[in-house]
Amino acid sequence: MSDATNLREGAGWNAAVGAVVAPSGRRGGTLRLVSSADVDSLDPARTYYVWVWLLQRLLNRTLMAYPTDPGPAGLVPVPDLAEGPGVASDGNRTWTYRLREGVRFDDGTPVTSADVRYAVQRIFAQDVLPGGPTYLVPLLDDPDRPYAGPYRDGEDGLPSVLTPDARTIVFRLRTPFSDFDHLMAQPCVSPVPRHADTGARYGEDPRCTGPYRVAEHRAGSRLLLERNPHWDRATDPVRPALPDRVDVAIGFDPDEMDERLIAGEFDINLEGRGLQHAAQDRLAGDPVLRSRTDNPKTSFLHFVSLQPHIPPFDNVHVRRAVHHAADKILLQEARGGPVTGGDLTTALFPPGLPSHQALDRYPTGPDLRGDLDAARAELEAAGLPDGFDAVIGTQRGKFRLVADAVVESVARVGIRLTVKELDVATYFSQGAGSPETIRKHGLGMIVTDWGADFPTEYGFLAPLVDGRLIRPGGGNWNIAELDDPKINELIDTGLHTADPAARTELWREVERRVMDHAVILPLVHDKTLHYRGPRATDVFVHPAFGLYDIQAMGVTDTR
Ligand code: ARG
Repeated sequence: MSDATNLREGAGWNAAVGAVVAPSGRRGGTLRLVSSADVDSLDPARTYYVWVWLLQRLLNRTLMAYPTDPGPAGLVPVPDLAEGPGVASDGNRTWTYRLREGVRFDDGTPVTSADVRYAVQRIFAQDVLPGGPTYLVPLLDDPDRPYAGPYRDGEDGLPSVLTPDARTIVFRLRTPFSDFDHLMAQPCVSPVPRHADTGARYGEDPRCTGPYRVAEHRAGSRLLLERNPHWDRATDPVRPALPDRVDVAIGFDPDEMDERLIAGEFDINLEGRGLQHAAQDRLAGDPVLRSRTDNPKTSFLHFVSLQPHIPPFDNVHVRRAVHHAADKILLQEARGGPVTGGDLTTALFPPGLPSHQALDRYPTGPDLRGDLDAARAELEAAGLPDGFDAVIGTQRGKFRLVADAVVESVARVGIRLTVKELDVATYFSQGAGSPETIRKHGLGMIVTDWGADFPTEYGFLAPLVDGRLIRPGGGNWNIAELDDPKINELIDTGLHTADPAARTELWREVERRVMDHAVILPLVHDKTLHYRGPRATDVFVHPAFGLYDIQAMGVTDTR
């Protein structure tokens, strides 16, 4: 890159949030990306990393997809492989899609409804293909005759998904599901041709329906994508497919990645980790650098779960005392401050969702440093005016800093916390995500975060508060094990309500009731600091993912 390019001022701070930076539509060239870690999987059924889901948009198409749109419209799936949105009948229980004509895999074979059905069948083979989302399993499985996936149960074993002809697919759900179009936008339902399926090894050589296919993948060091010769622009309303190649360099440490990004060697950090401290420190004194930086919300909520099954947190007044005693400013600093930590919040829904509302059930005083009188009154009501001893669970690193800030906050009203660090790698599966672990260590409070798997109120809040979604065996997100019949009922009503405005109101009611229970102490809606290189065109942070929409991007030098 010429020095002139690197000195030129960018489009401005946050210019790629809610708008497109350097729209060009120019085709050709190589988009150069960087990541510290490798993909979790190139098998579309086996990935959960947000950035790999964005990468999948280059490789695979789905019945529905989030549009190439930086605004609120980006949150609503549009037809991709399908001709139109799902046609719902039977109170949101039956969903029918019709495939577009003329779509092929990169090996030239036509895509049929059977290939989509086969992808859905593979999700049931969690023993062979773990790693991806499994929302479809309880919706489509028959508990009396559970389906074990295509490797164990044969091809025709899933009666709830029908393919009356090569272009039609019908899903018959056990329970209504208003957000079904969102599930049809997850990478795990990308069509897979049975003839190419190699089970657990499919990710090594996946077939593709998107504009790109894998040219080379050297584990831990490089992923190169090239154009898929069988992708037809005319059938794809979502993907501009600008560059000829996408080259991902893998395996750098975060500071080195920042340096090489800023030096112009790469265009975007694909992984979206955000600029590290060293690079952050340069921003204030470097207007060019700052003009190429975005600071979007990630739609992740950072929070502390309070555990009603661990005394004395079984008493709602104890939980409310903790809420009032929180020093929100100290907690936000522990999270990294307003730029790389996030926006303080007293409610749960990310601001982009329609149900987002101003809700401050447990005020923490005018300076947000805690309302200690209110906290003491709640302790009094709980019969614990002198406080008590308890344990808070966390993991080392950033979560530890938050736990320490909680300790400091509540110590002011006599609540004496000790900190228990759990293993990082298994934190969400077997630590905070395991009801058993929580009981074993007597963890009355847990530091955690959460981001939705699809951008709706159900996608965001149900896993955290729906009593039927508690997973006793691990991987549990309803950490507090909240199981309130009224909340469950409101969630179900939302699932068969077709009118979005009515659903919005239902979810606001759910949120108010959850806050009444005081089991979730919201801290911040996370934010990250991203750098966009000057070669990159058509750059924006995708509202459904909180990271740059890689598939939309092009480059200035297209030689
Ligand atoms: N829900 C998971 C979590 O909060 C993953 C969220 C992001 N991943 C995704 N593919 N949406 O950790």
